[in-house]
Amino acid sequence: MTSITPVRTRAEQPTDDPMSDPTAAFTCDPDDPGSEERCRRFRSVASRFATGVTVTTTHDGDQHLGLTVNSFTTVSLDPTMLLVCLAGGSQVAAAAERSGVFAVTVLADDQGDTAQWFADRRRYARPDQFDDLPHQDEPRTGCRVLTDGLAWFACRTEQITDAGDHVILLGRVGSSGVLRDAAPLVFFDGHLGGVPAA
Ligand SMILES: Cc1cc2nc3c(=O)[nH]c(=O)nc-3n(C[C@H](O)[C@H](O)[C@H](O)COP(=O)(O)O)c2cc1C
Repeated sequence: MTSITPVRTRAEQPTDDPMSDPTAAFTCDPDDPGSEERCRRFRSVASRFATGVTVTTTHDGDQHLGLTVNSFTTVSLDPTMLLVCLAGGSQVAAAAERSGVFAVTVLADDQGDTAQWFADRRRYARPDQFDDLPHQDEPRTGCRVLTDGLAWFACRTEQITDAGDHVILLGRVGSSGVLRDAAPLVFFDGHLGGVPAA
């Protein structure tokens, strides 16, 4: 079996031999209460998993809400299901529970500003978070889809499960579609970017 060499974050790597220091191994008692340092290390290790980037949307009465999410995955093909993980205090999670619906737009590599915007608390100061962004309301759920994205899914909220300091928002996909052919926006090592050239 191949042994796994623990690696340091880019900032922590010694320049001479970046792959060989086993002291960088991240071990912890999973039942211990969390510490800031442990969260930082965990986030740093997990950041080596490259993901796409989405904006997850819902509505609360007349107000449309969205946030940037990389913790997206499809879950089941039959029935069609997906999930996103949202921070415990997330207004979108609370609203998706109340409205019973949410949507996910997969972002393209030229939508870095959109990803930053939907991660910025200042969007709540605007009467409409989606003002300057091309969007359409998905007819069955009424949730906003960002039409400059790559693809979208509209969901019925199936289940919301507490998971540590986050909740898992599980959706049953009622409709979905492809929007345009473009390269995806990628989140890797704490940075937003495109897919690096081969
Ligand atoms: C690339 C990227 C990915 C993110 N992924 C998530 C995520 O998966 N879950 C989450 O809760 N927040 C994630 N965030 C942070 C939220 O977008 C941000 O904290 C947002 O303001 C939360 O909105 P809310 O206060 O309405 O919940 C991400 C931010 C960025 C820039």
